Amino acid sequence: MTYQDLDEKVLEQLRQLSRRYAQTGQDLASNLEGLLYTDYLKYWDYIALDTLMTLQRPRTSFPDEMIFVVYHQITELFFKLIQWEIDQLLQADELPLPLWIDKMQRINRYMDILVRSSDIMSEGMEREQFLKFRMALLPASGFQSVQFREIELKSTTLWHLLDKDQQQHQQRSEPIEALYTSIYWKRGAIESESGKKTITLQHFEEKYDAHLMQLAQRHLQNNLYILLQEKSTVLNEEERAALHREYRRFDNLFNVGWRLAHLRAAAKFLMKKRGEAVASTGGTNWTQYLPPRFQKIIFFPNLWNEEEKSKWGTQLID
Ligand code: HEM
Repeated sequence: MTYQDLDEKVLEQLRQLSRRYAQTGQDLASNLEGLLYTDYLKYWDYIALDTLMTLQRPRTSFPDEMIFVVYHQITELFFKLIQWEIDQLLQADELPLPLWIDKMQRINRYMDILVRSSDIMSEGMEREQFLKFRMALLPASGFQSVQFREIELKSTTLWHLLDKDQQQHQQRSEPIEALYTSIYWKRGAIESESGKKTITLQHFEEKYDAHLMQLAQRHLQNNLYILLQEKSTVLNEEERAALHREYRRFDNLFNVGWRLAHLRAAAKFLMKKRGEAVASTGGTNWTQYLPPRFQKIIFFPNLWNEEEKSKWGTQLID
């Protein structure tokens, strides 16, 4: 590139900038002068590193609690990235197949990392420390991860998230409020003896029920499952198969892979040698609630055959 070319390019950029500033009644010269005095951007400012490093706040001095806090935060950041992609899919006016597949692959890549890194929890902390520092976070629990619930509501139709026993006594056409109260995680956080909601669930409902109900309403007809029903009809068999592969992978990773890996961590820390369970911080009957073979949450049931569904939750499907 010669200086002549550079000047032309710079002049053209100045003309464009001038037009842009003029649209909002601003003056190009003053803004250029501002540029002269503005500091160069630094990496640490760009990613807000200083702030980020202040957000890890263990409540005890057990060193392994740092791992627990940071890994939860890492997981929440991946949940954010997953929602970022789902939102773009659900808002797209046009959805060419390569873009659709690409976004599903991104989601799967994030989930795959979460599943494969879960031994940071199950293997990477001392049980003795865990059993002590966890007492300092009662009654908080990962159960209260709102992003996990948001991903569920954006992925499938509310009906598929209902507690399976409750579902038998309900109709798909019932008002959303009735369906929402039967969602599997609300039923899972009821103390079997007293029939009362756990305090962990009560706190979560106070903070997020209105938001989640609204989200459930908004995504009743706009979720990944419906998108597949509506838009994949124009695809040929080969294209549909490629898309189904990514959808199945997501279902498998989120509802089996992650749940099994998480259960493994829970069992490692909360199971006594004699096979008794230690009470969890969220107060659920977790040995009955957490196993994916009992929950049987399937986002895209139409993509699995009867045998696969009957064995759902026992192991990752290849
Ligand atoms: C040693 C590590 C962990 C243990 C022992 C553990 C234990 C538990 C238990 C027992 C529950 C059931 C609710 C309750 O009674 O508290 C639960 C739920 C949950 N935890 Fe964890 N957890 C661990 C790590 C994590 C991490 C790193 C995350 C990441 C955000 C997480 C997210 C969740 C979610 C989303 C639920 C609800 C799952 C569902 O409703 O099916 N947990 N956890």
